[in-house]
Amino acid sequence: MKDYIATIVKNEKIAENIHAVTFDLGEEPKVRCGQFGNISVGGTHLLRRPIAICKTEGTTVTFCYQIKGEGTQKLRDLEAGTKLNVLMPLGNGFYVEDNEKKIALVGGGVGVFPLISVLREYYGDKIVSAYIGYRNKGAVCGVEEFMKATRFVGVTDDGSYGEKMNAVQAFQADLEKGNRPDVVLACGPTPMLRALKTLVEKENLNCYVSLEERMGCGIGACLVCVCDQTNGKKARVCKDGPVFNSRDISL
Ligand SMILES: Cc1cc2nc3c(=O)[nH]c(=O)nc-3n(C[C@H](O)[C@H](O)[C@H](O)COP(=O)(O)OP(=O)(O)OC[C@H]3O[C@@H](n4cnc5c(N)ncnc54)[C@H](O)[C@@H]3O)c2cc1C
Ligand code: FES
Repeated sequence: MKDYIATIVKNEKIAENIHAVTFDLGEEPKVRCGQFGNISVGGTHLLRRPIAICKTEGTTVTFCYQIKGEGTQKLRDLEAGTKLNVLMPLGNGFYVEDNEKKIALVGGGVGVFPLISVLREYYGDKIVSAYIGYRNKGAVCGVEEFMKATRFVGVTDDGSYGEKMNAVQAFQADLEKGNRPDVVLACGPTPMLRALKTLVEKENLNCYVSLEERMGCGIGACLVCVCDQTNGKKARVCKDGPVFNSRDISL
């Protein structure tokens, strides 16, 4: 992990309310898929914003972000050449065992972005099925990347792109047709992950989920990001996660 002084190379809109920012770090980072960066948007915003690492190429790193509140609005307005502090890579990330050949990616909302990094790390070596849910057609992004999966099912809440269903329902429909993965990797809003946890427990599938908690330090020191584990103990999402086996956490 390093606190890079990163230079914005590109910062552009890629879908409705969603932007992608690419930084040059000045050196090639060593990143595992599913890890994140904690970005200082400067000014009076003392707390950094945690954003999943979407892709790295040479010395550059790209983050995709939804414009939500003050921090992401400020980030959207920054131009190429601006320098920001980016602490990365943080968290444990996703890991797939050698004997897990068939991967299902289940993502919704801003949870689709870390799954792009998974696909980039594992395509070629694995059979990857991606079930990706968007709010509507305007929010659809990353399709070029997801098309590299062995199978890509894109769906929307209102049916304006793909079928009208959510990512968990799309995954379940394929499961019912006998397309059973060795491991499920997921990221998305808590209600989506909760529905997925119920499904994978019923189907006895191995599943890892990446959680999005409000964060402070991003390095395990402030305890802002704790979540409940099924063993009754607490875990820090930034340091012990953000990826957990779905059996180990309460949603
Ligand atoms: C590990 C991780 C990875 C993430 N990856 C992405 C991503 O790839 N793309 C993306 O668009 N968003 C991602 N998020 C959510 C993103 O961090 C928040 O949307 C963002 O911090 C909102 O900041 P804001 O100032 O615009 O909003 P505000 O609502 O003004 O934020 C106020 C405070 O709440 C925190 N906060 C608000 N919403 C969230 C949230 N859902 N999760 C965590 N902290 C939150 C902010 O960091 C800030 O400290 C991720 C969150 C985590 C924890
Ligand atoms: S954000 Fe500080 S401990 Fe996780």
